[in-house]
Amino acid sequence: MKIAVYSSKRYERPFLDASNAEARHQLVYLDASLTPTTADLARGHDAVSLFVGDDGSAPVLRALHAGGTRLLALRSAGFNHVDIAEADRLGLTVARVPAYSPHAVAEHAVGLILTLNRKFHRAFNRVREQNFALDGLMGFDLHGKTAGVIGTGKIGEVMCAILSGFGCRVLAFDPVRNPVCESLGVRYVELPELFAGSDILSLHCPLTPQTRHLVNAQTLATMKRGVMLINTSRGAVIDTQALIASLKQGHIGSVGLDVYEEEGDLFFRDLSNEIIQDDVFARLLTFPNVLITAHQGFFTREACEAIARTTIRNISDFANGGIDPANRVTARFIAPPAAR
Ligand code: NAI
Repeated sequence: MKIAVYSSKRYERPFLDASNAEARHQLVYLDASLTPTTADLARGHDAVSLFVGDDGSAPVLRALHAGGTRLLALRSAGFNHVDIAEADRLGLTVARVPAYSPHAVAEHAVGLILTLNRKFHRAFNRVREQNFALDGLMGFDLHGKTAGVIGTGKIGEVMCAILSGFGCRVLAFDPVRNPVCESLGVRYVELPELFAGSDILSLHCPLTPQTRHLVNAQTLATMKRGVMLINTSRGAVIDTQALIASLKQGHIGSVGLDVYEEEGDLFFRDLSNEIIQDDVFARLLTFPNVLITAHQGFFTREACEAIARTTIRNISDFANGGIDPANRVTARFIAPPAAR
């Protein structure tokens, strides 16, 4: 198969090449992200491979389909950047990598918690300037605090285990209960109780119509004063304008973000010589109690290996006539799961 690999970065190509050594598909690496303008680069390719910043909207899918593409091989677990209903209508098969390393993302979320709490980033810079004063660096014990986890799937489950290990009391919300979390002592509650009771709140749900702006002005107001909010799921689960208002009021204690609503225009590229045009993002960067990483939760060696392996397997399976149903995404799949 001939595959146009959009948004392919130098650091991931060796993993894809290694996974493709036997299958020998023709991988055409493109620096460009997939947009209405770049869709034509895939003309004549059987498949395209997309990452999270690529545009899988209906017009783009129609252009890909007209150019002969029949498979979208996502190099991600999330698929909110693809119009799945339109893909179904066009007969485009969509395959994703449902699990690669839940540990990578959960450990990153914990890294954000520890850094925000104990201010490692500020301490690092201070000590290098021979400033050994501790003013402003005080944190709190995680032990004994209440952590709220929204979404207890693969990543949320690891998060619950790590937080339990720290001695946190863990509350969770998920339409489907995870028995592993229950066996860890996690208590499932409704969202209002979770918002009101959590000292730390970590988001691990997918972006769906139900979770878009789940954290908004109204829900932020119900959270504990001083709460630490962590988002490694998808940016639009938080209403960023409302978050900024709450930060300005001093209601939210600290925020760790690995994702941002409008990250498509920013993340995964070096803009250090550019003027940032996104004033909302620019304002977020000014808060001393906000820590942002640029969607790197997944970025471990183990996760990159697994993403490459499953992506190539999905392509080979498609070529051989059948994709693992667990990796296939269809409009039916988007319906809320009835059971785990
Ligand atoms: P998963 O599918 O295993 O778990 C998601 C969980 O969210 C499920 O248990 C589901 O029942 C639950 N959920 C669905 N609707 C919900 C709602 N309205 N409220 C609360 N929970 C709800 O997915 P996984 O692998 O744990 O990933 C979670 C999310 O993390 C992904 O959807 C993706 O957006 C994000 N992610 C971020 C990465 C990063 O690099 N920052 C990398 C990988 C995933």
